[in-house]
Amino acid sequence: MRLVFGISKPRQPILGTELAGVVESVGRDVRAFTPGDRVFAFSDAGMGCYAAYKCMPDDGAVAHMPSNLSFEEAAAISFGGTTALHFLRKARLQGGEKVLINGASGGVGTAAVQLARHFGAVVTGVCSSANVELVRSLGADRIIDYTKEDFSQNGETYDVIVDTVGNAPFSRCKASLKQGGRLLLVLAGLPEMLLAPWTSMMSGRQVIAGTAAGTAEELRFLADLAENGHFRPVIDRRYPVEQIVEAHRYVDTGRKKGNVVVRFAADGQALAGA
Ligand SMILES: NC(=O)c1ccc[n+]([C@@H]2O[C@H](COP(=O)([O-])OP(=O)(O)OC[C@H]3O[C@@H](n4cnc5c(N)ncnc54)[C@H](OP(=O)(O)O)[C@@H]3O)[C@@H](O)[C@H]2O)c1
Repeated sequence: MRLVFGISKPRQPILGTELAGVVESVGRDVRAFTPGDRVFAFSDAGMGCYAAYKCMPDDGAVAHMPSNLSFEEAAAISFGGTTALHFLRKARLQGGEKVLINGASGGVGTAAVQLARHFGAVVTGVCSSANVELVRSLGADRIIDYTKEDFSQNGETYDVIVDTVGNAPFSRCKASLKQGGRLLLVLAGLPEMLLAPWTSMMSGRQVIAGTAAGTAEELRFLADLAENGHFRPVIDRRYPVEQIVEAHRYVDTGRKKGNVVVRFAADGQALAGA
């Protein structure tokens, strides 16, 4: 990660990977957007979204905001939404398949529960007691409280397991995955990534790891779902930019529910980055 983000300090000093706001001006050849459009965007490792103004290429990951979402909600679509969508598409999830989502209350997990339900899967969410109601409200059919039950020891099997926590490698999940099942390692170390093709070849199951890039097509797909009431980003806390240190301290606890949003004001407009 240091090779990507900078060896001794962040290469891009302005952090923040996603945003929502109003188009201030456009380049001469830009056709898809006009000043005044409400948009949301994902800059991924390029960062720079903790800002009142940001320049984005018109063929980058930028899309019009769903009309029924606030700036804060729209800013919270991209990170978890595009990651969950990328992995569920890689797994070629089919309607009726059984999916388990480990870490169902986090940024990626809350998106994965909603998307898996939208694709017609039967969803089991793994979370702590405090988040059972939240995960149920997102549409999970079954909840496993990890403080009371270990999903890998209860004899249940799944077509797809999504691990967003990093504590469910193939060795732990093998017995819980059906033959032909897929393990989606959203959070994987280098050894697991390198071993994934070998494990897939030898086990009759598929291990999928790697990085999700976040594309404009994915943003438009998620915006459409949100517009039609099938997807709503979960926001845990909102901070003004002056409290950005506190916002990061909270995220670093590893206990956030869904997303944390930072608010900016530019010319009296409320904007948001996450
Ligand atoms: N591969 C990629 O391209 C890609 C893209 C995006 C993100 N990621 C990675 O995906 C990971 C997840 O990101 P995120 O934003 O979703 O994380 P997050 O929101 O910080 O995850 C926090 C959530 O995890 C839950 N949790 C903690 N320990 C748990 C456990 N043992 N079992 C089940 N749930 C547990 C917490 O609930 P409790 O407090 O109740 O425990 C909390 O709600 C990150 O490591 C991120 O770097 C990878």
